[in-house]
Amino acid sequence: MQPLLNIGVLVSGGGSNLQAILDATRTPLLSFARIAVVISNKPGVFALERADRAGVAAVVLEPRAFPSRETYYAAVIRHLEERGVDLVCLAGFLLKLEPNIVTRFKDRILNIHPALLPKHGGKGMYGHFVHESVLRSGDAETGCTVHLVDNEFDHGEIIQQRRVPVDSGDTAEALAARVLKEEHRLYPEAIARYARSSRFRAIVGKDF
Ligand code: GRF
Repeated sequence: MQPLLNIGVLVSGGGSNLQAILDATRTPLLSFARIAVVISNKPGVFALERADRAGVAAVVLEPRAFPSRETYYAAVIRHLEERGVDLVCLAGFLLKLEPNIVTRFKDRILNIHPALLPKHGGKGMYGHFVHESVLRSGDAETGCTVHLVDNEFDHGEIIQQRRVPVDSGDTAEALAARVLKEEHRLYPEAIARYARSSRFRAIVGKDF
């Protein structure tokens, strides 16, 4: 029997990238994968509704319910491991990870960032701030990046990128929308490619 890639998705907001991954699991690209659990650090976000509609288990874990970030992530780890998660995908998850989860899921956490890293990344570079920074810089192109997560914001090894042109007269909103469209193509593709790499297969001991 073909082994299944169990994905855990961490979200904080609308979850359009979560939706793109969910949709891709119903196509040949990611038919070997399923989303085993969605974890949100915020209640009431639309990503939770998307999980619900897709019949995917969803959990809200709020940091304020825990005495420290470390115990918070210990709970996140527990939920991921209970569901047999092989690969963690951050999809608009706004909290910084702690070393305990980065170590436990070493080389098994991906993030998507709406710019061509290493440009326009780091602390405070999220949402409209990223696209405003691109416009200010005068760059002729931007894009999106899927990278491995380490202990620094937007810093880990780059797995795959896609380029998007910056048009004259672009607003941050227009640019964000154009980049987001590409994110929805890139993330499922990068997940499929990374999951099938010999490096990842050696880590999880499954051959997809
Ligand atoms: C995306 O732009 C992603 O690159 C960034 O956060 C945004 C999340 O959007 N990390 P969504 O919640 O997936 O719609």
